[in-house]
Amino acid sequence: MRKIGVLTSGGDAPGMNACVRAVVRYAIYRGLDVYGIEQGYKGLLSNRVNLLNKRSVSDIIQRGGTMLKTARCDEFKQREVMQQAVDTLDAYGIEGLVVIGGDGSFRGAQDLHNMFGVRTVGIPGTIDNDLAYTDYTLGFDTTVNTVLSAINNLRDTMTSHDRVCIIEVMGRKCGDIALYAGVGGGAELILVPEMPFETEDVVKTIKRNQRVGKTSDIIVLAEGVCKAEELKSILKLNDVTGSIKTTTLGYIQRGGAPSMQDRMLAAQFAVRAVDLLMDDRGGKVVGIRDNKIVDDDIDAALAMPSKFNKELYQTATILGL
Ligand code: ADP
Ligand code: F6P
Repeated sequence: MRKIGVLTSGGDAPGMNACVRAVVRYAIYRGLDVYGIEQGYKGLLSNRVNLLNKRSVSDIIQRGGTMLKTARCDEFKQREVMQQAVDTLDAYGIEGLVVIGGDGSFRGAQDLHNMFGVRTVGIPGTIDNDLAYTDYTLGFDTTVNTVLSAINNLRDTMTSHDRVCIIEVMGRKCGDIALYAGVGGGAELILVPEMPFETEDVVKTIKRNQRVGKTSDIIVLAEGVCKAEELKSILKLNDVTGSIKTTTLGYIQRGGAPSMQDRMLAAQFAVRAVDLLMDDRGGKVVGIRDNKIVDDDIDAALAMPSKFNKELYQTATILGL
């Protein structure tokens, strides 16, 4: 292995830059040439491929977003389009590819490996924490801290007015951002797609909280359940009295300087990914389980069932009372 490529794909996540920096510098240390592919898989279709050096990745460790840019490239799912991408890799002599992204990006890496024999290694980079084989994805920790900071601010004002606040957070179909931010922020209720609930129970909880003298209710709502405004209408229809406010945090959750945990993951994931390629191994993903950096076959990793922590959810329910 002499030349590798690195790309970031799907939604950007804090820590992607730190990870690109680590891939580039560690790969160069191991004697490899490293090409940065811009805009994810799209860059392989439009020849946006540049040789990087150690200075190309200066001053990015602390920045959110991704210097390589990212994109969603739907046509990449077609076999003939993927063949074009493989031709680009061949034209540059790129023998191994590090893909930093989420579930969708990993499906692309899986196809490149299984259908075309490209040695791919996936690094989990998504705020959603929706990859079952790894305890944490790159970006999740920073995002949860951003949400926590918002909850702190919202709590101040909600308590001052005796209000109910519904905070809608990202995560696609995964409730982890809501769960962790809800636990850390002392939410009264956490609503996630993994734990179906009855409207009646939500209403009962809020009415009881009002009766027992709680001065605010924070409901953290995962976007995979419904929109904040929809939930507000449902609560109003069910005679929840008092003022109910909604806040949809949106893209503020995706930016910002990566936390220490995400920078640590970035460095360690990158080293393991490059080591795998140096050993000529592809069709792999790296992750962290029980505080240890691990690697798995991409097929097995993507087949694992959801790891949603129901026990933590029950704890949150008890602590929020
Ligand atoms: P994420 O990687 O954050 O989950 P997406 O689901 O948008 O983000 O996927 C990112 C990109 O990965 C897509 O735009 C597409 O280029 C590629 N991709 C997604 N799903 C597949 C698939 N089933 N096969 C091949 N490529 C895919
Ligand atoms: O996957 C990351 C994520 O931020 C999700 O939480 C969210 O549903 C989605 O991306 C938003 O995607 P887009 O940037 O295409 O609006």
